[in-house]
Amino acid sequence: MRNLAVLTSGGDAPGMNAAIRAVVRTGLSHGLNLWGVYQGYSGLIEGNFKRLGARDMGSIIQRGGTVLGSARCPEFQTEEGRELAVRRLHGAGIEGLIVIGGNGSQSGAHALNQMGFPVVGVASTIDNDLYGSDITIGVDTALNVALNAIDNLKVTASSHRRALLVEVMGRKCGYLALMAGIAGGAEAIVLPEVDVAPEQIAQRIQDGYERGKPHAIVVVAEGARYNAEGLCQYFKEHGLLIGFEFRSTVLGYVQRGAAPTCADRLLGTWLGSSAAEQIIAGNTGVLVGTSKGEIITTPLTEVAGRQKPLPSWFLKAAEMLAR
Ligand code: F6P
Repeated sequence: MRNLAVLTSGGDAPGMNAAIRAVVRTGLSHGLNLWGVYQGYSGLIEGNFKRLGARDMGSIIQRGGTVLGSARCPEFQTEEGRELAVRRLHGAGIEGLIVIGGNGSQSGAHALNQMGFPVVGVASTIDNDLYGSDITIGVDTALNVALNAIDNLKVTASSHRRALLVEVMGRKCGYLALMAGIAGGAEAIVLPEVDVAPEQIAQRIQDGYERGKPHAIVVVAEGARYNAEGLCQYFKEHGLLIGFEFRSTVLGYVQRGAAPTCADRLLGTWLGSSAAEQIIAGNTGVLVGTSKGEIITTPLTEVAGRQKPLPSWFLKAAEMLAR
């Protein structure tokens, strides 16, 4: 292999830049030409490629977002779109592609690989829902952003004796909500994976109120049956008692845009560099992730379209610790 390309796709995640930098510099150190594909799969279809050197990667490790840009690309989900993308790659003499992204992006990587184009995926999404890696790039930073917000919200909630319902991202996965909720000492955590009736949540908040708690923090995953605003509405419409005055806050995109933590810089570097080494060694059609502190590769056929379950100990602990 002489020419290797890298792209970032789907929702950006803090630590993606560390991964890009690691792919590029590892590839260069093996004597390859490195190419950046701009704006994810859209850039692949448009042939938006640029040669990258070591200096292009200077001072990006500490930056959030992705210097290559990202996109959600419906056109790539069509056969014509993917065929055009492969023609663009062949046309530029590119012989391998590293895809840094989450679930949708790795399904795209799998499709390309099925068409005979050598691809290696890098596990990157703040949602941590990707099968094939214990942890994905961006999770640690997103959790720390959510946690800072929860700590601040707890302060103002206590001043006013309020219940605050805090909505965090995660698409259909409750990982961010579960972990931020536990680390933030939330009174209740609402997840897509565990269907709890709003009446039960209200009861738990009310119990805390009666026991003299100064606040209640409820962390709600955006993919749960009721989101934060939906729950507030439900409490009101059904006249449920929760004792506290209540408000909702949606954290939204602030969770994605922060500068990467040390953990995400290291994870991005580790996975990016390993992905370059895998593709150079000819181990393609795989996702590079971690398991029990080691690098692992998982065939993209096993990764595509699959959601990783929540860690069971933390799921049980959430119930036990919110007293
Ligand atoms: O997958 C990352 C994520 O931030 C999800 O948590 C969220 O549901 C989604 O992306 C938002 O997508 P978009 O950036 O397309 O609005």
